[in-house]
Amino acid sequence: MKIIGLNGSPRKEGNTGFLVKYTLERLEEKGIETEQIDLADYNIKQCRGCYECVNAKKCTIQGDDFLEIFEKMVDSDGFILGSPSYHSSMTPRLKAVLDRAGFSGRWYANEMKEKSDSYEWKGTAFSGKLVAPVTVARRAGQNFTFAQILLWATVNDCIVPGSNYWNVGVAGKGGAVDADEDEEGKNILNHLSDNIEFLLKKINK
Ligand SMILES: Cc1cc2nc3c(=O)[nH]c(=O)nc-3n(C[C@H](O)[C@H](O)[C@H](O)COP(=O)(O)O)c2cc1C
Repeated sequence: MKIIGLNGSPRKEGNTGFLVKYTLERLEEKGIETEQIDLADYNIKQCRGCYECVNAKKCTIQGDDFLEIFEKMVDSDGFILGSPSYHSSMTPRLKAVLDRAGFSGRWYANEMKEKSDSYEWKGTAFSGKLVAPVTVARRAGQNFTFAQILLWATVNDCIVPGSNYWNVGVAGKGGAVDADEDEEGKNILNHLSDNIEFLLKKINK
């Protein structure tokens, strides 16, 4: 059982990085293997809308690190998708990964449907994986960012574990890195990790 955490902040050691790491540490304590991927360390180009993945069955953009991250996502049982709120949205680097992973992951197994034809649905690269957003903002916008990630997860055939509140952190006034002081935020992530453990055990039994 392996859960990976994507940290979408350009600041590796920022609040998002802390909260993703915090969640992965709780999962490690439960015997679940984890890996944190700080997108700040990777060169990821944006989706260019070429549709080549429909036939190629993978993203054809060359010269960046996307496929390495995509393979880690495919090989996992699920992922934490962490992003700071930037003007109430996820960061461009996380969006670039999710656009390319979601679109090419769909054509991994399916054929593009002809007009008025229905799918013979074969799942996506991420079908049945557990996906949980973790978002952080200084003041407002966590839920918009959270919703963007939820929309990605739920159109990609994933299973979304909940918690006792939305998985959001309140931190970063004036750019401060102080998510460790957000006790309520950490408690939400404690319960999220309990629910991820519960679901992983049910799914893998
Ligand atoms: C470009 C930019 C846009 C931001 N937009 C928002 C926002 O919409 N709402 C908010 O409360 N904080 C906003 N912030 C503050 C960040 O969400 C906050 O500093 C957060 O801690 C950054 O995450 P990080 O520490 O993981 O880098 C913004 C910060 C930047 C740099």
